[in-house]
Amino acid sequence: MSIVLLGGSPAAVSGSGRLLQHIGDLLAQRGHRVGAIAVRDLPPRALLHADLSDRAIADACNLVAEAEAIVVATPVYKASYSGILKTFLDLLPQHGLEGKLLLPVATGGSQSHMLALDYALRPVLAALSAKHVLTSIYATPEQMAWSDEHGLSLAPTIATRVNYGVCEMSAALTAQHRRSAQTERRRPAIAPRQMAQQQSA
Ligand SMILES: Cc1cc2nc3c(=O)[nH]c(=O)nc-3n(C[C@H](O)[C@H](O)[C@H](O)COP(=O)(O)O)c2cc1C
Repeated sequence: MSIVLLGGSPAAVSGSGRLLQHIGDLLAQRGHRVGAIAVRDLPPRALLHADLSDRAIADACNLVAEAEAIVVATPVYKASYSGILKTFLDLLPQHGLEGKLLLPVATGGSQSHMLALDYALRPVLAALSAKHVLTSIYATPEQMAWSDEHGLSLAPTIATRVNYGVCEMSAALTAQHRRSAQTERRRPAIAPRQMAQQQSA
C-alpha cells in the first residue's frame, strides 16, 4: 500500500476523520494507492493488551509496515493527541516508521492547542524513525463545514494548507518512485558473479 490514512479519533462522527478522508481523496485523485486504518475499529481488548497475535492488529501493523507514506490524523485531547492513537503507535516496532513520509493532521476545539502536533506527536514520529515529517495541518470546527449533500468544505486557509500538504506528499512519492525505477533500470539483469560463471562455463 503506497499511502495509509491513520485515523486516531475514538468518535464515530469525526471532524479529524472527515479531514483525513478528504486528504485521502485528493491523494487518490493524483493516482496514489490509498488504504486506511481507523484505530477505533480495531478490537479494543487486543489493542489495549498489545496483542500482536490478533489478526486485525497484525493486519493494521502490516499495512503501516508496507506503506511508503502515512497521513496521521487525531483530535486534540487534553492538549495532546488522542490516547487511542498512542496505543496504536506503541504497537509498532522501535523503528516502525523508518523510511516513511508522514503528514500529521489534527482538529481541535480552538486555536489554543494548534501546536499540539508539533510538541507532542512530532517527537513520537521521530522516535519511530520517520524519514520526513511534513508541515502539520490543524483545523478548528469553524474552519470545516459539513453537509450530507456536499461533504466537507474548508475555509480558504485550511484548503490551501491541505493542498500544499497533498502536493508535497505526492511530489515526494513520485520522486521516490522515479529514483527506484532508475535504480532498477541500472541494475544488471544478472549479478556480476553469475555473469562471470556463465562466461567461464
Ligand atoms: C476528551 C476531550 C478533550 C479535548 N481536549 C481539547 C483540548 O485540549 N484542546 C482543544 O483545542 N480541543 C479539545 N477537545 C476538542 C476536540 O479536539 C475537537 O472537538 C476535535 O475536533 C474532535 O475531533 P474528532 O471529531 O475527530 O474526534 C477535546 C475534546 C474531547 C472530547
